[in-house]
Amino acid sequence: MTQQPAYGNTAKVLHWMIVLLLAAQFAIGWLMPDIQPGAPPGSAMTLHIAIGLIILMLIILRFAWRLFHPVAPANTLPRWQRLLSESVHWLLYGLVVATAMTGWFFASFRGWHLSPLVGVPLPMLTAPDSIAGRLVGGWHQAAGFGLLIAIGIHVAAAFIHAFVFRDRIMQRMLPRA
Ligand code: HEM
Ligand code: HEM
Repeated sequence: MTQQPAYGNTAKVLHWMIVLLLAAQFAIGWLMPDIQPGAPPGSAMTLHIAIGLIILMLIILRFAWRLFHPVAPANTLPRWQRLLSESVHWLLYGLVVATAMTGWFFASFRGWHLSPLVGVPLPMLTAPDSIAGRLVGGWHQAAGFGLLIAIGIHVAAAFIHAFVFRDRIMQRMLPRA
């Protein structure tokens, strides 16, 4: 498929929606009260789960959009920077999915029957209290931490391009002037 020279509006809107939702999601994840054994999810947890599922849907949509609307890497970048940025982008897609899916496992492991989005019941990914649920769900915190590191590298690179190299990489993801 022919690669476009620049990101289109759909790719940009999806990118920035995911950024905003992830910022809210991390804040809720850290601030929400600890789970009490056997207790149903409270309102902060229900919100966390709903936002997490929206992020999961948007990242899958963004990835599908990318498959059918591929964008060429900036031709001003040296080869090593193209490879590194592509790798970090893949890592970001993978870690967002991994964080959301491990959270979903954790919720199923707790035995929560959820319908956080417009009343649609969420399938259980594992039986309550299962060993697989404990194991995979237990990775949620680590996956979220890994995602945070990858985001840190990605954002630092974007700002280095904007303020140190002063090239037009950042503009690629901003609205067209
Ligand atoms: C990409 C999206 C997500 C991010 C960035 C995220 C992030 C976080 C963070 C930072 C925490 C706090 C961990 C800590 O104790 O330090 C957390 C906890 C939790 N999240 Fe998520 N989450 C996401 C999606 C989900 C989803 C989709 C679900 C369920 C369907 C979920 C269920 C949970 C549960 C049950 C906890 C409590 C786990 C515990 O106490 O160890 N999360 N999440
Ligand atoms: C302040 C925060 C952020 C800034 C300034 C930023 C900036 C950018 C820029 C400038 C690009 C285009 C790079 C290029 O030339 O190809 C980009 C792409 C990308 N960003 Fe971000 N970003 C931010 C946060 C995030 C976050 C939180 C994620 C997490 C999912 C993310 C995921 C991606 C991905 C996956 C791409 C590649 C898009 C593709 O080609 O499929 N970004 N970002």
